[in-house]
Amino acid sequence: MKNYKIAVIPGDGTGPEVVNEGLKVLAAAAQKNGFKYETVSYDFGGARYLKTGETLPDTAIAELRKFDTIFLGAIGHPDVKPGILEQGILLKLRFALDQYINLRPVKLYDDRFCPVKNKKPEDVNFTVVRENSEGLYKGMGEFKDKGTPNEVAIQISHNTYKGVERCLRYAFEYTRKNGKQKKLTLCGKTNVLTFAWDLWQRTFDKLAKEYPDVKTDYAHVDATTMWFVKNPEWFDVIVTDNMFGDIITDLGAMIQGGMGIAAGGNINPQGVSMFEPIGGSAPKYTGKNVINPLAAICAAGMLLEQLGEGKAARQIEESVKTVVRTKLKDLAAGKMGYSTTEVGDLVVKSLK
Ligand code: IPM
Ligand code: MN
Repeated sequence: MKNYKIAVIPGDGTGPEVVNEGLKVLAAAAQKNGFKYETVSYDFGGARYLKTGETLPDTAIAELRKFDTIFLGAIGHPDVKPGILEQGILLKLRFALDQYINLRPVKLYDDRFCPVKNKKPEDVNFTVVRENSEGLYKGMGEFKDKGTPNEVAIQISHNTYKGVERCLRYAFEYTRKNGKQKKLTLCGKTNVLTFAWDLWQRTFDKLAKEYPDVKTDYAHVDATTMWFVKNPEWFDVIVTDNMFGDIITDLGAMIQGGMGIAAGGNINPQGVSMFEPIGGSAPKYTGKNVINPLAAICAAGMLLEQLGEGKAARQIEESVKTVVRTKLKDLAAGKMGYSTTEVGDLVVKSLK
């Protein structure tokens, strides 16, 4: 019997509450599908930082490399200056473990929860492949004459051929395997950002020749946001850089029903990946048992898919769909008609 090693980082705010529900569903799925796993929990996050001044201890990365996968709740604390925990924990993990893909499915499970009029589950059903290791997130740049009227702040988008190629290749492979229309859209800004997007476009066109079964398309990022609202049904798989991917997936989360349901995976196909609900730590709801755990439960499903437990992953998705369609009044915190723990129980109960 398989026995997976899972590192759990519940994190801040409502992170621990939603992670608990994810683990509850994971336990049920393991039992149904005949695999085992062990978890080790780590307390990285704002509370630990405030106590010790440490974000990620030096030994953490080496230790995390020994796991099969990582399950993350949320990082973010109201008493910590913005940037410290994001850079020191979340981005550090993504970079150090070279999780170069951020995979974000955008799936609407019930039309009642789409803010866009007349859009149905078959219309909002696509996946964003976000580059997760380069671009503006590299943190390259400088100040000149800081604090003077002549100040200049430079922020560089750093794109390497290797980094772009591996991301695009993953996206082509993903589309070939999972795409419902076998269509991959490159989302960029070739008309203005003429260095970075020239590299992306050239590499995309080159790879397209290796994947004749995948239809290709291009959309500027600004137009992409327009089409997410107007014609989301046009999209199947979208590949884009780190910054654009960050922005368009928040909009994606909204058209699929909100942060309560949006999950993502930070993936290193050759290494250790990390799965998380894409929303934040929602401090104001902490400890109230009202936050929606479905995003974390969906993240647990993606984690199982990555481990090779596809059947269990599909069971979880089907169960989430059933609960969303037949039970929940709303997907927002406090409005679901059920508590956090009750929603977790409902998903367990309808696992088939
Ligand atoms: C996300 C988040 C992070 C990002 C922040 C918290 C650093 O917004 O996962 O989308 O910008 O990638
Ligand atoms: Mn984001």
